[in-house]
Amino acid sequence: MSVFSRIFNKKSLEIDKSGLPKHIAIIMDGNGRWAKKRGLSRSLGHREGSNALKRITEICSDIGIKYLTVYAFSTDNWKRPQSEVDNLMQLLMEYLKKAETELAGKNNRIRVLGNKRALSHDMQNEIKRVERLTERNTGLCLNIALNYGGREEIFFAVKEILKEVGRGKLKPENVTQEDLAERLYTAGIPDPDLMIRSSGEKRISNFLLWQAAYTEFWYTDVLWPDFRKEHILEAIAEYQRRNRRFGGV
Ligand code: IPE
Ligand code: IPE
Ligand code: MG
Repeated sequence: MSVFSRIFNKKSLEIDKSGLPKHIAIIMDGNGRWAKKRGLSRSLGHREGSNALKRITEICSDIGIKYLTVYAFSTDNWKRPQSEVDNLMQLLMEYLKKAETELAGKNNRIRVLGNKRALSHDMQNEIKRVERLTERNTGLCLNIALNYGGREEIFFAVKEILKEVGRGKLKPENVTQEDLAERLYTAGIPDPDLMIRSSGEKRISNFLLWQAAYTEFWYTDVLWPDFRKEHILEAIAEYQRRNRRFGGV
């Protein structure tokens, strides 16, 4: 590894550009607690969270990460007060509108993973527009998990297979794990190598259940709005020190 293939910061933040995780997934948690600590409204916490997402996406794109999947809204987040749900949807809409100029201009692709049918028509149209506009871009692929639930994703894939079996398109004895993977929202996207969760929680909260079978986890107490370049570099550096065995020796 040459000196030029390394990014130097602090010693622990040294990363090897030749051994980057291809796919990073992030559970962006702690916006509410960040706001509460400052006596601010939760909506201001979410706004700062949205700024953090913009920052981290740019950094991942600059470093040369191929896929970044972020958990923006879960199928269980509908349980929150309507005003908070509306606020989150509005921020996501703004994010998509700005992403067109700010992210797509950098040759980045945007995809939304989740059950889109439950989203407003405006949101569905905006998603279609941004996905189409960026589908040929070859830089970082930013996957925004929106109304995403890992169990629902697997359940829908199983139902799809059952339908195809019913129509005679697939034979039960021939169904493979790949057939199931191809019917997930993440079809065509490699499994995440590294999963990050901010805010000190150590659970998966229904994120990428199928895909995370051999993913390396990295947790931090840092609240999402405070998440910066040093934290993503620290996570990547730690990932590069780990020994992945995938069940082998
Ligand atoms: C993450 O922050 C954003 C979403 C879940 C949409 P939270 O809103 O969960 O923040 P905390 O966990 O209440 O601090
Ligand atoms: C997970 O965070 C979902 C997102 C970050 C969008 P939550 O804050 O909703 O998860 P729990 O409730 O702590 O498990
Ligand atoms: Mg939370």
